[in-house]
Amino acid sequence: MRIAIIGFGTAGEGRLHAYRTVAAGRVVAVLDPSPERRARALRLDPGVVTYATLAELLAAQPVDAVDICAPPNRHVELEREALTAGLHVICEKPVAVRTDEALDLINLARERGRLLYPAHNYGFSPMMRVLTGAVTGGRLGGPLRARFQIARDSHARGVPGWQPDWRRDVAVAQGGIMLDHGTHCAYMATQLFGEAPRTVSCLAQWADGDAASGMDLAARLNLEFNGGGTCEIDLSWVSGTRSNRYLLSGPGGTADVHDGVAEVRTAHGVERTDLAPPSRDQTHQEWFGGMFADFAGLVAAGTGWDRPMREVVTTTALIEAAYRSAGRGGEPVVPAGFSAAQAR
Ligand SMILES: NC(=O)c1ccc[n+]([C@@H]2O[C@H](COP(=O)([O-])OP(=O)(O)OC[C@H]3O[C@@H](n4cnc5c(N)ncnc54)[C@H](O)[C@@H]3O)[C@@H](O)[C@H]2O)c1
Repeated sequence: MRIAIIGFGTAGEGRLHAYRTVAAGRVVAVLDPSPERRARALRLDPGVVTYATLAELLAAQPVDAVDICAPPNRHVELEREALTAGLHVICEKPVAVRTDEALDLINLARERGRLLYPAHNYGFSPMMRVLTGAVTGGRLGGPLRARFQIARDSHARGVPGWQPDWRRDVAVAQGGIMLDHGTHCAYMATQLFGEAPRTVSCLAQWADGDAASGMDLAARLNLEFNGGGTCEIDLSWVSGTRSNRYLLSGPGGTADVHDGVAEVRTAHGVERTDLAPPSRDQTHQEWFGGMFADFAGLVAAGTGWDRPMREVVTTTALIEAAYRSAGRGGEPVVPAGFSAAQAR
């Protein structure tokens, strides 16, 4: 598959390296409006052709898919343009910010017979393998309780060739840590509980103490599931430390994944595994092979596309509901659903 990377910053550069490890995809083009970033792409891979706009790329270069690693405020327009041009699309999180946009995108993808695939890379992490292994076959039993704790001393910074602090500019970032890291927690919870939450409640700490800023620096989300399970998600860019912890418990035992160490306790004993910690490489290149194999396998099969496209909608709806709840002082909000009627 011939791939164009769109947005050659931290994530895009990580992708260029990661594509070298997969057989089914080859990067032939890189798009970035920044001349500095285009020059960097050519230094790293003189074989790629660089472009400043998607229109130029589409006019000049045949590609099968685009991998969108541009800043969040550009995702929807780039996805639309690429799908309309008949390309498969992988898009970094957030794939969309509003549920109606997410539904429009998957409807467009279906009309064009192309796959819209979320770069939900934590789903392919060693942490998720342990957690999924602990819940499969009912090992922990149910209802399940979960607690995710994501602590950071700051938001990540972007590359110097563009706007390194775009994550604090709501016009570009479209939100704060809930949209940035909360998105990963949202699809992880939905995958582990096997369903989207029934309600979402959220309290947030806003930049300058002002919800109107739209920039959440820390948040606590509570998800309630139809099956009786609950998931609490603590996110912070202002905690002064850096760690990821995922705790799951059920009547049959517990799973605790804390940075590089995973421990699953059940009646059969304790399994301890050392994992590569999730917080070292910002783009997590080592998780890419599994994610791309999933994408390429779905494209080749031409079926099974409902799973990733549904996840685009459920993830967007969950985070949208969290912002709505935080804006209403933590009142529970029912996330917009994914129904056959909404998605043609
Ligand atoms: N899944 C993950 O683990 C992960 C990790 C890092 C970043 N990301 C995501 O990747 C995206 C980019 O983040 P980043 O950290 O690489 O940011 P960055 O600032 O390092 O890079 C952004 C790049 O996009 C370019 N750009 C700006 N406007 C553009 C446009 N209209 N079209 C194409 N390119 C444009 C900039 O010139 C810059 O090179 C974000 O959506 C972020 O959430 C995901």
